[in-house]
Amino acid sequence: MSGLFITLEGPEGAGKSTNREYLAARLREQGIDVVLTREPGGTPLAERVREILLAPSDEVMASDTELLLMFAARAQHLDQVIRPALARGSVVLCDRFTDATYAYQGGGRGLPHERIAVLEDFVQGSLRPDMTLVFDLPVDIGLARAAERGCLDRFEQEGVAFFDAVRQTYLQRAAQHPQRYRIVDASQPLNEVQQRLDSLLPELLELRRG
Ligand SMILES: Nc1ncnc2c1ncn2[C@@H]1O[C@H](COP(=O)(O)OP(=O)(O)OP(=O)(O)O)[C@@H](O)[C@H]1O
Ligand SMILES: [Mg+2]
Repeated sequence: MSGLFITLEGPEGAGKSTNREYLAARLREQGIDVVLTREPGGTPLAERVREILLAPSDEVMASDTELLLMFAARAQHLDQVIRPALARGSVVLCDRFTDATYAYQGGGRGLPHERIAVLEDFVQGSLRPDMTLVFDLPVDIGLARAAERGCLDRFEQEGVAFFDAVRQTYLQRAAQHPQRYRIVDASQPLNEVQQRLDSLLPELLELRRG
């Protein structure tokens, strides 16, 4: 049985982490081995890169530095966690992946799509998620949810225009490849979001059967 690579995307406060747990529980009920992980991070070394990426700093981080650190962490994560789990036949539920790089470093920071695509091919080879769930919600709602958690990381300190570009990039990518992406309306109450995930479950199980 081959593994399945599912990524959860969307802005801060969209409910990725909350619903990753929910989806994992539903899959485990079916006796499926599930690996929960996240980016940037997912291994001790990649989590150290995450700390560099998220910590507010007086030194401005060049956009290319940010991009390369994202892919450096991703290379480690793929090597140590994602590829081995897929080879074992596990379902990998990953909180953010390369779509977030297109959304944040591409849409948000304005780096050219082509530059990201070169690194995507270099680091991932042909590996792409089997399904990507985009948790979509208006920027102000997401920022309000993130603010409730207290101190803001380096990305959360960005303004509305940045997050609007992030959102639009996710939606454009989803529109370009409707077979891979599923949009989840994350502004709905949590129980309705989870009903939507329940409705996607048969599709996921079908993908896994191949
Ligand atoms: N549908 C929802 N309605 C209301 N509140 C929600 C909903 N989904 C999640 N929340 C709440 O919003 C907050 C952010 O959720 P969560 O941490 O899952 O988001 P996230 O997408 O993982 O954010 P981040 O990118 O910052 O990690 C949490 O307090 C969570 O309980
Ligand atoms: Mg989260």
